Amino acid sequence: MRDPVRPALGAASRLLRGLPVRPPAFAGATLGRTEARIAQRQLDDRGAWEDPRPVEEAERRFASWSGSRSATTFFAARVALTAALRALRLRPGDEVLVPGYTCVVVPNAIRFEGLVPICADIELETFGMDLESARRQCTPRTRAVLLHHLYGLVARDGHAITEWARAKGLAVIEDCAQASGALDRGRPVGAGADVAIHSLEKTKVLTSIVGGVATTGSPELADRLRQAQAGMEVPSAETAERLLRNVLLYEARAHGTPMARRSAERRHAGERWVSTLPDEEVGRKPPSYERRFPAALAPVVLAQLDRVEALNERRRRRARRWDDWARAEDHPVPVITPGSVPVFLRYPLLVDPAMKRDLGWGALLGVSPGVWFTGEFHPVAHPMTECPNARTAVERCVNLPTLW
Ligand SMILES: Cc1ncc(COP(=O)(O)O)c(C=O)c1O
Repeated sequence: MRDPVRPALGAASRLLRGLPVRPPAFAGATLGRTEARIAQRQLDDRGAWEDPRPVEEAERRFASWSGSRSATTFFAARVALTAALRALRLRPGDEVLVPGYTCVVVPNAIRFEGLVPICADIELETFGMDLESARRQCTPRTRAVLLHHLYGLVARDGHAITEWARAKGLAVIEDCAQASGALDRGRPVGAGADVAIHSLEKTKVLTSIVGGVATTGSPELADRLRQAQAGMEVPSAETAERLLRNVLLYEARAHGTPMARRSAERRHAGERWVSTLPDEEVGRKPPSYERRFPAALAPVVLAQLDRVEALNERRRRRARRWDDWARAEDHPVPVITPGSVPVFLRYPLLVDPAMKRDLGWGALLGVSPGVWFTGEFHPVAHPMTECPNARTAVERCVNLPTLW
């Protein structure tokens, strides 16, 4: 690989070229001073946690931003998916087509409901589900198809799969966990699905450390999503407090001075929130799959909704810089589906497998390349003969940060 930034010039050269001097944070990058101030205010005023209005407002604002009739919050996108499966009234044994390259929590949520996830391969242009593979994997027991939009790109075959699924009477779920705010033919992604799910986890397009949202355009499904939410437990005050402290921790990690970072690490050591537990990696269901969104965090979501469009525009600008770099390095640049506006949560690249195994080259660019995904069911390896492209992506796809 040609070195685009001579290492000898180091930080000064990177600064002049507009590349990051300090590796950008992978988590909490969208959290700013406003969110940190809000988290501190919430920590100082527990009485405010009882107020349902910020959650209601966050749901209203999210619905309008995502082009949906209604938005219902949950503890995580995996919980929003759980609620979606319940709302769609899928029955034990029903099959759900999923991309064979996803996060382990997606097939888990399906299995935990007694359903059977069946993998279709992805294409390697946008890493979305491949139409032909979906057709091949469909059986008489298939009742729903779950599409996704990875890295903030809009999936190449999304419309074709939706049309095919509708013709077969299958429900369509859109996993927008990595692409909230992207536009597809002028509408926000997910707006055409029966139910779409979004994530507010700490590495996502907008965050409150944890959180998930299920959106729908159907009044009936909206009612059932609300029922699913009502049947779930309210997170404990201890959990809410820990999450608020994580807002402070991740904001300091992403944007603080070295002193502020050290101080935040010291104060909140041991409280770091881990999104996916070891139990989930081996298919055991943790209690958090039955939890509502912590009301104490709703004001953070409102602040993120105020800024998300500006942040997404910044991500797109950074992606254009990576395009120039990738072309100069002879890496294939990510494909933008015609008629779509991606958000570039990360900038995906297919590189030589040796580059994915040894990420040292990132230091020359001042970044820590991301390795989403390290397994077909990230982070779990799940090779399948019917999903060869998923294996290729596991071996070759890295992703670069787009916010710094
Ligand atoms: C594609 C995809 N879907 C769903 C999820 C689940 O999101 P959450 O962590 O909010 O449950 C993730 C999380 O990383 C993801 O990457």
